[in-house]
Amino acid sequence: MRMMEKVFEKAKKDLRKIVLPEGEEGRTVQAAAILKAEGLAEIVLLGNPEIIRAEAEQRGVSVEGIELIDPTDSPKAAEYAEELYELRKAKGVTPEDAAALVADPMYYGIMMVKTGDADGLVSGAVHSTGDMLRPALQLIKTKPGRKVVSSSFLMECPNRSLGEDGLMVYADCVVMPCPTAEELAEIAVTSAETARTLCGFEEPRVALLSFSTKGSAKHELVTKVREAAEMAKKLAPELILDGELQLDAALVPEIAASKAPGSPVAGRANVLVFPDLQAGNIGYKMTQRVAGAECFAVLQGLAKPCNDLSRGCSVEDIVNTVVCTAVQAQQA
Ligand code: ACO
Repeated sequence: MRMMEKVFEKAKKDLRKIVLPEGEEGRTVQAAAILKAEGLAEIVLLGNPEIIRAEAEQRGVSVEGIELIDPTDSPKAAEYAEELYELRKAKGVTPEDAAALVADPMYYGIMMVKTGDADGLVSGAVHSTGDMLRPALQLIKTKPGRKVVSSSFLMECPNRSLGEDGLMVYADCVVMPCPTAEELAEIAVTSAETARTLCGFEEPRVALLSFSTKGSAKHELVTKVREAAEMAKKLAPELILDGELQLDAALVPEIAASKAPGSPVAGRANVLVFPDLQAGNIGYKMTQRVAGAECFAVLQGLAKPCNDLSRGCSVEDIVNTVVCTAVQAQQA
């Protein structure tokens, strides 16, 4: 992706330590070696060091200088288990449960981030989205002042007349199946922050999308989006944001002129907020498959950054996601 060059530069200037719980997985080992060699992040690989080294040898890469930790044989495990127990005892977690959980690399990695022993986490080459999201939501929790964890997809479209020279942010396409108006408002504001800090947009212009533009249709779903837009304006009065808007009114200046004259966003949106996860997930995949956009996702709203990969990810995807996580950690 074109935008990654700038993100790589940012990551190199202030190195962050990112933990990869799927440390025994081949693509992950290869990505870790590249990240270390190119000075993009400090890396911790979790897993059995012998398996990790054998994987590295098979791929012809070096894990020299990369921290290898086996969660089942770690001096820190007892401390993490105690902390996890304290955090989750009200939810019925026992000390024995906590000890068993931190032997799982995913929980061990999350506890490293929680306690500040790592700055961020990336997983998903093996595990599902939910496998990582649930412990992150339960233990790392949201940033102060935020209630919702959601995602932004960074979309790079071949049509450079869209967004910022073809680059747009789509939200939420991964996490919240059915956000309330209040949650949608928060997703809109957080996505604008991601657009600014990660994508370098100087002026995020946020469209809250619907099948209606400015009252052209009447339905409770439309009302929800309109209310979310009003709430978002109160949450971030300085933000350039509008809704409800149809996708064409959000992106095409001629259609904006007739459907939403005077809107500060219509015809020039660069952050698209979908009304729910069905629309968002279909929307990003449609843009990827039909329009040939390049894309990848980051989670937003967590107190410390954790990001998910697709199980079909490439080594390059892992490198890019770790670098984005490191840059998010600089701002956490
Ligand atoms: N923001 C903040 N906190 C949250 C959120 C959220 N969005 N969602 C759940 N939580 C908290 C809950 O309050 C709860 O906290 P607590 O245990 O301290 O009380 C904890 O997280 C667990 O909540 P649950 O409701 O038990 O979690 P659930 O089993 O519903 O899982 C999940 C949450 C995984 C995010 C769920 O909403 C989900 O599956 N989302 C869709 C994921 C997905 O499949 N995406 C599409 C595929 S990805 C792709 O295509 C790229």
